Amino acid sequence: MLSSSFQICILAQSTQYSFMRQIALIFILIVTLQSCSSEFDKNAEVYNQLFKLGFGFVEVGTITPKRQLGNPKPRIFRLEKDQALINRLGFNNHGSEIVAQRISENKPEGFLGINIGPNRDTKDKFDDFYFCLFKLYSYSDYITINISSPNTAGLRDFHEKNSMIKLLEGLNKIKKLKNINKPLVVKLSPDIDEKNISNIIEIVNKYKIDGIIISNTTDKNRQKLIDKKKDEIGGLSGQPIKNISTNLIKKFYKAANKKITIIGVGGVDSGQSAFEKITAGAKVVQLYTGMVYKGPGVVKEIKKELISILKNNKIKNIAQATGINT
Ligand SMILES: Cc1cc2nc3c(=O)[nH]c(=O)nc-3n(C[C@H](O)[C@H](O)[C@H](O)COP(=O)(O)O)c2cc1C
Repeated sequence: MLSSSFQICILAQSTQYSFMRQIALIFILIVTLQSCSSEFDKNAEVYNQLFKLGFGFVEVGTITPKRQLGNPKPRIFRLEKDQALINRLGFNNHGSEIVAQRISENKPEGFLGINIGPNRDTKDKFDDFYFCLFKLYSYSDYITINISSPNTAGLRDFHEKNSMIKLLEGLNKIKKLKNINKPLVVKLSPDIDEKNISNIIEIVNKYKIDGIIISNTTDKNRQKLIDKKKDEIGGLSGQPIKNISTNLIKKFYKAANKKITIIGVGGVDSGQSAFEKITAGAKVVQLYTGMVYKGPGVVKEIKKELISILKNNKIKNIAQATGINT
């Protein structure tokens, strides 16, 4: 894993648009810096521990310009029977200033992404993204533009053509002005209208976005859930969104004629589920809920199982498996 991370660092620094192209196998965990759940970080220093667990990448965030508390508790619900979570954290985080300071004092020992988003009470969401890019790029190896959390009102409107163009154009201007050459990826919602797929591909290509993350949580799809907490407000993650995100990955991969870097996320908790994301078109996978249910050993388990699946299918590496099921 270390060698994969190292390879990516070199790639990302030398050519921003070749980001992630030659990845062997990377796992990412999104960590909300302020205590999002008991397993995770309360003091913003957990990314180095996570690298030690075998994660090739760690993505921290979502970070907003200013500190904010998020929604009142309870705001995370375990739907044990469905192997799922519903969260309505609402971007509880310490804010860009403190996070920048913290990372500068705790050198990341692996490839670190920072996921950015707007404050809830902001007057201008565009400005918040621009501010966070400017403030945080130098502490990260890549930046994720999070337009897909269902817990911040209006955020998902950035999937709409004109807003997305304005946002990516603005971010590109800042990159140019400040000579920023860190890769940018956009994190998408599973709830998008499929008619938007081709628009999104066109826009991310035009603005040379380095990859897309599919997907964030859904605030729909509750019909088949059995746990009594199924109607809590918030974003649903884990097993119930596994196939939803895999199918969306397939659609984007096909619509882009395979020429797109996709980071697959949603219900990954085993070698088989990681394999499904990869064969649908993902080059990299992330997980969150799987770690909550299966614990820190899940990373090594996934890698072991994935290797044996590849061997059984006589597939040499992840690159060869990417998109074979589309
Ligand atoms: C408790 C919790 C907090 C999350 N916070 C964020 C967040 O701040 N920003 C973000 O982009 N995604 C966030 N996510 C979404 C995950 O990163 C991921 O996209 C989603 O949960 C699907 O993956 P999973 O099924 O492996 O959890 C959060 C998910 C959970 C369960």
